[in-house]
Amino acid sequence: MDWKQLFARKNLGELLEEMKGDDRLKRALGPVNLTALGIGAVIGAGIFVATGKAASETAGPALMVSYLVVGITCIFAALCYAEFASMAPVAGSAYTYAYITMGELFAWIIGWDLVLEYAVGAATVANGWSGYFQKVIAKLGLHFPAIVSKSIYVFENEHYHATGSLINLPAVLIVAIITAILVKGISESAWINALMVFIKVGAVVFVILVGSFYVHPENWTPFAPYGWTGINIFGLHVAGNTNEAGEPVGMLAGAAIIFFAYIGFDSVSTHAEESKNPRRDVPIAIIASLLICTVLYIGVAAVLTGMVKYDTIDKDAGVSSAFHHAGLPWAEVIIATAGVAGITSVLLVLMLSAPRVFLAMARDGLVPSSFFADVHPRFRTPWKSTIAVGIFVAILAGFMPIDALLHLANIGTLFAFVIVCAAVIIMRYTDPDAARPFRCPLVPLIPILGISACLLLMFSLPAANWLRLVIWMGLGLAIYFGYGRHHSVLRAHNASMSAKS
Ligand code: ALA
Repeated sequence: MDWKQLFARKNLGELLEEMKGDDRLKRALGPVNLTALGIGAVIGAGIFVATGKAASETAGPALMVSYLVVGITCIFAALCYAEFASMAPVAGSAYTYAYITMGELFAWIIGWDLVLEYAVGAATVANGWSGYFQKVIAKLGLHFPAIVSKSIYVFENEHYHATGSLINLPAVLIVAIITAILVKGISESAWINALMVFIKVGAVVFVILVGSFYVHPENWTPFAPYGWTGINIFGLHVAGNTNEAGEPVGMLAGAAIIFFAYIGFDSVSTHAEESKNPRRDVPIAIIASLLICTVLYIGVAAVLTGMVKYDTIDKDAGVSSAFHHAGLPWAEVIIATAGVAGITSVLLVLMLSAPRVFLAMARDGLVPSSFFADVHPRFRTPWKSTIAVGIFVAILAGFMPIDALLHLANIGTLFAFVIVCAAVIIMRYTDPDAARPFRCPLVPLIPILGISACLLLMFSLPAANWLRLVIWMGLGLAIYFGYGRHHSVLRAHNASMSAKS
């Protein structure tokens, strides 16, 4: 075993040089488009679907605080992402950052983990989309046959229950449509995304403004009926409260679930290569989209738990149903329809991001480049990997239950944030003089706070997720040792350099 190769690092200067090659993506995105992509990736199934369940079963009105806690956690991580995105504005995001700081093995781990975040996140969102979509068409008297309307199983209280359905067909269909749009091209995708972002931000502002007239402050008492913490280290209960199934509950556990609502802001950094002025615009877009979403989310959580007593909130479509309870059925229809549009744009961005991570890995030889790095001659998109990711997401979305997908996406993303925060500290020591157009403030304090907050949230998730993360990573390592290590471009380059000297 060549141990040195496992920790071989890419050189930042060479990386920037590589970017000047021909086979690059089209530079079409400005700061407003990028922020719209960020918001497009962020506001979706988390706020429209997961909030109701988290408020009623896990956190109660204290979910507002959960949103604040996660917002702050993500700001720590966002500052670290922004520093890297400004230093190395290429497709690949955290994967590329890890390659230049921690070496090839860590880069592989993070790249594989990002694919988990984006693909499993997309499957979760497709599942949430299907639920909302079916609610909307039911208002028109239309129904999908029960046999093709849901995943085979649902996951509740650590147990699987059969639903009687064979496949979640609406989820599979939406994934197929989005895949086709993405193969066609980035400019069109950004334009459609901007329209959908406008609709969903409008819906969220509507919820906050109109909903605030229907808030009954007495619904906010008790404020934290499930307590504040619930921490579980690898299944061992160490602090706070748990439910009957032994899963953590309370404000922090709620935070670990609704963390999903924030997933996606980091995907802005995967578009660095398509940005017109990445060094300035990518950091601005990451931070702007995060701040806007945090304020909106806290508003929605406050209004929702103020309108409906926490234990009677609808678990599947809490936000729209609250307006039904308030005697505003027309508002319910508007919100549910906008929710469908909003969730669609999330799917678009997540599915746009996963193939770009593969693209970066393929250029380094870690996955087959003839397939994953093949940029379409006319559309200039990584079309083969887009289709491959589409098939993978469709399978997950068609058959897996939403909770299991959501938890897995969360733990995978939190893990990616931990590595990015650590990489910022390492890079300040290993490459102190590299140009950093954007510098994360107060290093190492901010990255350390980011790492601690992410670990705390990881330990507030049900323990089974650690096992799923380990299985996914085990599969990834098998691929790396079986394929990537032998085909690494960096390995070939280093071997030829040492043969010359
Ligand atoms: N943050 C995205 C959502 O909530 C993934 O749908």
